[in-house]
Amino acid sequence: MRALVTGGSRGIGAATVRRLARAGADVAVHAFRHPDEAETVAAEARSLGRESWVVRGDLASDEGVRVVADGVRAKWDRLDVLVHNAGAYDRAMFPAITDAALLATFRLNVFGPFALTRDLLPMMRRSAAGRIVFVSSVLAYTGSSNGAHYASAKAALLGLSKSLAKELAPGITVNVVAPGSIDTAILAGDTPARRKERERTIPAGRIGMPEEVAEAIAFLSSPAASYVTGTTVHVNGGSRSD
Ligand SMILES: NC(=O)c1ccc[n+]([C@@H]2O[C@H](COP(=O)([O-])OP(=O)(O)OC[C@H]3O[C@@H](n4cnc5c(N)ncnc54)[C@H](OP(=O)(O)O)[C@@H]3O)[C@@H](O)[C@H]2O)c1
Repeated sequence: MRALVTGGSRGIGAATVRRLARAGADVAVHAFRHPDEAETVAAEARSLGRESWVVRGDLASDEGVRVVADGVRAKWDRLDVLVHNAGAYDRAMFPAITDAALLATFRLNVFGPFALTRDLLPMMRRSAAGRIVFVSSVLAYTGSSNGAHYASAKAALLGLSKSLAKELAPGITVNVVAPGSIDTAILAGDTPARRKERERTIPAGRIGMPEEVAEAIAFLSSPAASYVTGTTVHVNGGSRSD
C-alpha cells in the first residue's frame, strides 16, 4: 500500500504516517514549513522497513499543489491512499474576516485538497482499492464562534467528499474524519483557563490525542473499510455525533 499524508510533519498527520507505516504502508510525508520534522517522521517509517520520503509544497497555492503532485508522480506510478490532513485555523471574529483571509483559508483547506485529488486521480485509479480521507473538523457541524471562515471551509469538505464518493465508486472510497479538540499545535494558543473550559465541555473529560484520530484515518484507509464510503467518522470525545 502506498499512501500520501499531507501535513505529515506534525500533529495528526505525523501520527497518521506512523500508524499507516505500522500497518505496512509506504508513506510519502508531505510538509511545508517543517520539512525537518517531516524527515524525522519519514525516518521512523523507514525504521519499520517501509519506503518513506518527504515531499514539500504550499498547498494553499496552485504551484505548491503542482509541485507536490509532481513529486509523488516522480516516485510512484500508483497511489492507494490519499489523506488530506494539512490545514490551519486562524481564529477571527466574523466582522474581522477579510476577503483575503476567507480566500486564504479556502485555498489551503478546500482548493488544495480539491486540486490535489484531481491531479493525483489518475494514479489512484491504478489502485485495486483506492482510499481518500479528508480531515475536516467538528466545527463543520457545530459552527465556530471565532472562525466562520474555517468552519465554512471544513464544511465544504463534506460536500466534496460525498460527491467524490459517488463519482469515484466503485474503486475508490472517499470519507471524512472530523476531529474535535485534539492536542496539537492548533491548540497551542489556548490559555490554561481556556484549555480547562474546553475539557469541561467534552463528555470524555479530556482533549483528544493525535493518535486517536490517526486510528480512524487508518481504518478508513484500510482494506477493512471496503464498504464504507461517503460518510464521516467523528473523533471528538462525545462533543457532537452527527
Ligand atoms: N487539533 C485540533 O484540535 C483539530 C480539530 C479539528 C480539525 N483539525 C484538523 O486536523 C488537521 C491537522 O491539524 P493538526 O491539529 O495536526 O495541526 P498542526 O499540528 O498545526 O499541523 C498542521 C499541518 O498542516 C500543514 N500545513 C499548514 N499550512 C500548510 C500549507 N500552507 N501548505 C501545506 N501544508 C500546510 C503543516 O505543515 P508544516 O508544519 O510542514 O508547514 C502541518 O503538518 C488540520 O486539517 C486541522 O484543521 C485539527
